[in-house]
Amino acid sequence: MATGVHGTRVPSEGLARYYGERAAAGVGLVMHSVPVIPTYGRPSATYTEALPSFAAVARHVHSYGSRLFGQLYYYASSPGPWGPNTPPAPALSASATQRFDSHSVAHEMTIAGVQKLLDAFRVGARHLIRAGYDGIEIHAAHGTIVEHFVSPYFNKRRDGYGNDFTGRLRLLVEALEAVRDEAGEKAAVGLRLNCDERLPGGLTVDDATSIVDRLATRNLIDFADLDIGLEPEQFSLVSPTALDPEVDIEGTVAGIRQAVPRQIAVLVTPGRVTRLAHAERLIATGVTDMVGSVRGLIAEPELLKHAREGTEELSRTCIACNYCLASLIAGSGFGCAINPGSARETRWGLSTYSKKSSSRRVVVVGAGVAGLEAARVAAKCGHAVTLIEQRPFLGGQAALWSKLPGRDPMRTLCEWYATQVSEMGVEVRLGVRATTGIVLDSSPDAIVIASGARYATDGESGFAGRPIPGADREMVHTPDDLLQGDRWPAGRVIILDEEGLHTAAGIAELLAARGAEVELITRHQQPVVGLVSSFESTSVIGRLKNLGVRLTQGAYIKEIGSGEVAIYDVVTDAVEVRHGIEAVVLATMRRPEAVLAAELHGKVEQLFVIGDALAPRGLADAIFDGHKFARLIGEPGAARDFTDDFFRPLPDDLYAGMKAAATMAEDSPRN
Ligand SMILES: Cc1cc2nc3c(=O)[nH]c(=O)nc-3n(C[C@H](O)[C@H](O)[C@H](O)COP(=O)(O)O)c2cc1C
Ligand code: SF4
Repeated sequence: MATGVHGTRVPSEGLARYYGERAAAGVGLVMHSVPVIPTYGRPSATYTEALPSFAAVARHVHSYGSRLFGQLYYYASSPGPWGPNTPPAPALSASATQRFDSHSVAHEMTIAGVQKLLDAFRVGARHLIRAGYDGIEIHAAHGTIVEHFVSPYFNKRRDGYGNDFTGRLRLLVEALEAVRDEAGEKAAVGLRLNCDERLPGGLTVDDATSIVDRLATRNLIDFADLDIGLEPEQFSLVSPTALDPEVDIEGTVAGIRQAVPRQIAVLVTPGRVTRLAHAERLIATGVTDMVGSVRGLIAEPELLKHAREGTEELSRTCIACNYCLASLIAGSGFGCAINPGSARETRWGLSTYSKKSSSRRVVVVGAGVAGLEAARVAAKCGHAVTLIEQRPFLGGQAALWSKLPGRDPMRTLCEWYATQVSEMGVEVRLGVRATTGIVLDSSPDAIVIASGARYATDGESGFAGRPIPGADREMVHTPDDLLQGDRWPAGRVIILDEEGLHTAAGIAELLAARGAEVELITRHQQPVVGLVSSFESTSVIGRLKNLGVRLTQGAYIKEIGSGEVAIYDVVTDAVEVRHGIEAVVLATMRRPEAVLAAELHGKVEQLFVIGDALAPRGLADAIFDGHKFARLIGEPGAARDFTDDFFRPLPDDLYAGMKAAATMAEDSPRN
């Protein structure tokens, strides 16, 4: 959410509007991170050129009565490239420690480097305060450089910036002194601290208590933002998924709170705050003075507004899938899997659902998440929508996945859509198999085909590109067969997982929990490979191992015989035969089901095939399609179908929000 070229890379209008939408809905304090070292691709607070855009972000947030803090950081372990089209720059750290996610070893900062870093904290704070920011936080958690200096695990120095507790604290103290000096009475100063590193020889709760106490005694901080977790190795502590064990950050923080002077406000982001009662309890019991939410508000900008108005059921509940983090890290466009409007506020924000002058009659075929999003958005734009679903329930694949152990957030997603389509007055026809006649019966102007996809029954995949011999045997099933039919094979079961996502792993877990002897085979060299980027793979593998599921990597099915399955090593071709197999589940590829599309072609103004029916992909893609194409309905000159849209020059509004924040119209808060 930054724009411009290196050297003048600045916060974009989109960034301002992202925060503006949340501030307008009652978020009291917004805090975003800002690198202090000019890092390629990110708007650093040290660039003077970035100041007008930081100032515009501050003005926009202030216009809703909220406060804005900047979190100054440098990540010790993710240096990014030197510049465009270059290899990564070396990581900087307190000592020459090896990075967790690579063989690379960090550069141990020299004293001159430390001085430069301190200057950068000073200049960063000066610039943000000049831009109107109300507070500065130094980030000393999640594996940032300041944490590395404070931590006995990372800091092995023998000079004045290491050696003992006081030496390890010196960088943090001097950085806070510089920031305090710049802030004066104008801005609050605090730090985000990893208060329990959970590493052998790492920072402990006792250390954190002493640190906060020492900083408070020296009047260096006004608030302490207490957290846990190192990135990337402890993402399950930083941004836990639904499959991670519960993290008791409350217990960790409560003890520190007791020991810290009352004038120091404590902020905690406990993780997965999706209902306000959770936050209120933490404040009422004295664990913390302020509660932070990140993903809850990425998914639902109006979390607070709904709670205040007694309509919390209208809030989308973050499903903790970490698509937001994964997309951010991959640089593939930051967004939310279940809310396509999030991080696209300028184009698709809450105030952009103006009722169309000419309402259209719309029929949506298929009530999976793509169809539900299309129906919701079309209805919100003032169209008369009928949603036809052949199953007796809403949610399609997502509803089926919610049967899998630990995947129940999918159910909350389906429930939210059910509430939405009902609130919006969508006519929902469940248990109706759509035909051309039924669809055209209501004389629609636009039709959306969101009839999803089904797993290949013959085992074809992108890897083998041909059916698996023996896939037609009775003992062979697809995930659809099992999930739709609630049929759970017992005995020895082989599951072939070509996707590396939740479906095969969830079925393996479910069957194993019911007593089956399960082997999960993938041709990849890593189980559940598709869940690595969302930091879910470790928890999923742990759950499978705890249930005794045999994990076989680098293998594929050669042939399925009667009660036996031949598998081969994808590198050496060596074949092994598994005997006594009672069932095989093939989660290879999904094929689109868009049967009505050809028959309906040319019969209405607009006909969009979306989601898996267009091309089977992921949950986020399906919901995005639903949103994108519903927005086109009834728009003058808009595309008539997917192909028409795909081959057009990209529309200008795609770039809305990508201008420098400094150029946005100040008098037009759109939220
Ligand atoms: C996309 C994304 C970006 C994040 N960036 C930062 C960051 O820059 N600084 C930080 O202290 N925490 C960052 N976090 C961690 C959050 O502050 C928070 O501690 C964590 O996500 C758990 O809270 P939640 O469940 O409310 O999201 C980020 C989290 C996400 C999901
Ligand atoms: S992408 Fe997933 S984890 Fe992130 S906010 Fe959206 S639902 Fe939550």
